[in-house]
Amino acid sequence: MFMHAISACLSLAAPIAAQQIYDVWSTTWDRSDLFTYTNLSPNPIDFTTPGATGSADIVITSSTVYQPIIGFGASLTDSSAKVLSELKSDNSDAYWDILNYLFDPTDGADAAGFSYLRVPLGASDFSDTVYSFDDTSGDTSLSDFNINNAPSYLYSTLQDITGINSLLKIHIVPWSPPGWMTSTGTMLGGSFLDEYTDTYASYLLKCLQAYSSMGFSVYAIGIQNEPQNSDSTYPTCLISAAQEAAIGIQLRSLMDSNGFSDTIIIGYEHNWNDAGAYPVTLMEDAPNAFAGVSFHCYEGSVSDQQTFYNAYPNKNIYFTECTGEFGSDWWSDIKWYMDNIFIGSPQYWGQSGAMWNLALNGLGEPKLPGTDSCGTPCRPIVTVNSNGTYNYNQEFYAIAQASKAILPKDSGGPFGQRIESTVNGDLNWGLIVAAYVTERTDNNPWNRYSLVVLNWDDQPNGSWDPTPITATIEFQGAQATYTFPVGVTTLWWYAEAES
Ligand SMILES: *[C@@H]1O[C@H](CO)[C@@H](O)[C@H](O)[C@H]1NC(C)=O
Ligand SMILES: *[C@@H]1O[C@H](CO)[C@@H](O)[C@H](O)[C@H]1NC(C)=O
Repeated sequence: MFMHAISACLSLAAPIAAQQIYDVWSTTWDRSDLFTYTNLSPNPIDFTTPGATGSADIVITSSTVYQPIIGFGASLTDSSAKVLSELKSDNSDAYWDILNYLFDPTDGADAAGFSYLRVPLGASDFSDTVYSFDDTSGDTSLSDFNINNAPSYLYSTLQDITGINSLLKIHIVPWSPPGWMTSTGTMLGGSFLDEYTDTYASYLLKCLQAYSSMGFSVYAIGIQNEPQNSDSTYPTCLISAAQEAAIGIQLRSLMDSNGFSDTIIIGYEHNWNDAGAYPVTLMEDAPNAFAGVSFHCYEGSVSDQQTFYNAYPNKNIYFTECTGEFGSDWWSDIKWYMDNIFIGSPQYWGQSGAMWNLALNGLGEPKLPGTDSCGTPCRPIVTVNSNGTYNYNQEFYAIAQASKAILPKDSGGPFGQRIESTVNGDLNWGLIVAAYVTERTDNNPWNRYSLVVLNWDDQPNGSWDPTPITATIEFQGAQATYTFPVGVTTLWWYAEAES
């Protein structure tokens, strides 16, 4: 009764007066702010009766609600788990500091709350050795299947992460089927042999069952990482759309009859540029097996996600891999990541955004001996040195600024959903914006509305001159004004849903 009285009261009060921005996270081009939190109390930014619009005017349409976001994050490769578990032995305080800062999703925590994690099934180019979970040639009954062919530090690290973030969406996907199911007889390149369609589907079900028996709740499984890539120096395999469809149909049926009807299958898992071909064919061939498809950044552009969306608007879109390389410019990378992935992917219907290795050393190692991938060493989210020191790279800040905006407000509450936003005004090119609503539990009518804003106005007249942009924010008939520094800003306020 008491709660009802309160909400009745709130809905009678003029909501405009109550909407205020207190919470701001900032990462600036000069690194003076690095995912730095400011509470504006006692001087919050008020939403008031609208006045003139700013030279950039952010218009939020909160009644236009788009896709839910499942989380932002990275991949836990064998190598990432190895450097992290070595750190755990050498300097366990640092290890727990890193894991908490990366993964704690609790509202109010000083942490990024990564909630999406991709985990390779078997070896990738970031493993010590080439292995699958059944390397016995011709073992079509899979009697030698053994999930413990992966190093134990992979599972212990994953256990520690899920202990911090129980909301983690785990996406498991192989870099190759067992070698004997491919044309080369090895996991190092080649193409999938049709005769093993059912065997491979059973193999993937066994992976799910093994994860489940270790206590991991798996959000999604994929058939093949980068199915259009064959490389003889690391685990890769060509699997055509028709083959992947056939495997997916069989796997879906096995999952449904073995207690995994809530786990989804994500297809494709490759570059943007082929968005109108392979993933569309996959949906045509297996419309009920796949919940959606995932994209990588290495060819094409994020707007290609629109091509797939236009063909299959009811299928999910995920963005699951891109890597930084050592030696690139910190601020240029932040701009690219926000524009193309951590704001860009949601703008083009993505429900996730993720980078590649969670952790590596300062040389981009360890890597699979002999692999030609990451010729320019790949930069992880967090560099972990063998002497126990570590540092967060630009990838971390890009992910963190996006992740913070969509985490559940309430324990047990939903993640954020994208809402409509546009930028008007002379300086509309200067701001790239994603807007989200995060609904509440317990019938709390005060949703959280958050913005992730890139101000990339760093050379307004052709020469270097980072220029803050004072923007107006239009929301439910009210207006706030905020000056965005050059960098990335995440901020939020609370308001009732538009009725
Ligand atoms: C730790 O190792 C890194 C990378 O080799 C190095 O840059 C750093 O100076 C070392 N720090 C200490 C305290 O030894
Ligand atoms: C850029 O040039 C225009 C036109 O000369 C001027 O009005 C504006 O103040 C300049 N902007 C900056 C940030 O210097």
